[in-house]
Amino acid sequence: MSAISIAVIVGSLRRDSFNAKLAQAIAKLAPADFTFKQAQISDLPLYNQDDDANQAPQVKRLKAEIAAAQGLLFVTPEYNRSIPGVLKNAIDHASRPYGQSAFAGKPAGVIGVSVGAIGTAAAQQHLRNILAYLDAPTLGQPEAFIQAKEGLFEPDGSIGAASKQFLKGWMDRYVAWVKKHTA
Ligand SMILES: Cc1cc2nc3c(=O)[nH]c(=O)nc-3n(C[C@H](O)[C@H](O)[C@H](O)COP(=O)(O)O)c2cc1C
Repeated sequence: MSAISIAVIVGSLRRDSFNAKLAQAIAKLAPADFTFKQAQISDLPLYNQDDDANQAPQVKRLKAEIAAAQGLLFVTPEYNRSIPGVLKNAIDHASRPYGQSAFAGKPAGVIGVSVGAIGTAAAQQHLRNILAYLDAPTLGQPEAFIQAKEGLFEPDGSIGAASKQFLKGWMDRYVAWVKKHTA
């Protein structure tokens, strides 16, 4: 089977982001025919509808990366019980101009890690609402609400023993979900 490429969108710009780490670590739990590439969102301008007819090069780049990918993987923290503004900004950009969204029909996984006990559950629910409107089908189960705790990552950045089996199971379901949508 030919390679399946996944555009990864991380909702944190923080240098030592747990979510960026999680994105890297779970990609290694996927089979070899899956490739993951994180899309850059840190240099996007603030979304302004006036620019829809003349999107910035960074916006065109993001849209092209999403368009070229067979699936999407959102890995995001929770900010104030929702998704971070930088993530919403990126989604708004790639969804426009009206009728030219990059997201339609792209199967998406939603996962995230936060320091709070509910492990991004509220943010993920908001993100699912947005993706439903954008016609990007999301993997429903298993849900993965990860709390940032000692031992979540090994020193080499891989997933720690306590979470590895669960996250491998999540990845297996995600892989099957993407394949179902790309068949
Ligand atoms: C503006 C802001 C709002 C936050 N709100 C929440 C929240 O609603 N729930 C939560 O669990 N953690 C919240 N946090 C803490 C984040 O979980 C924590 O900063 C986490 O490390 C962010 O993810 P990152 O490591 O990928 O940057 C908030 C952090 C910031 C900076």
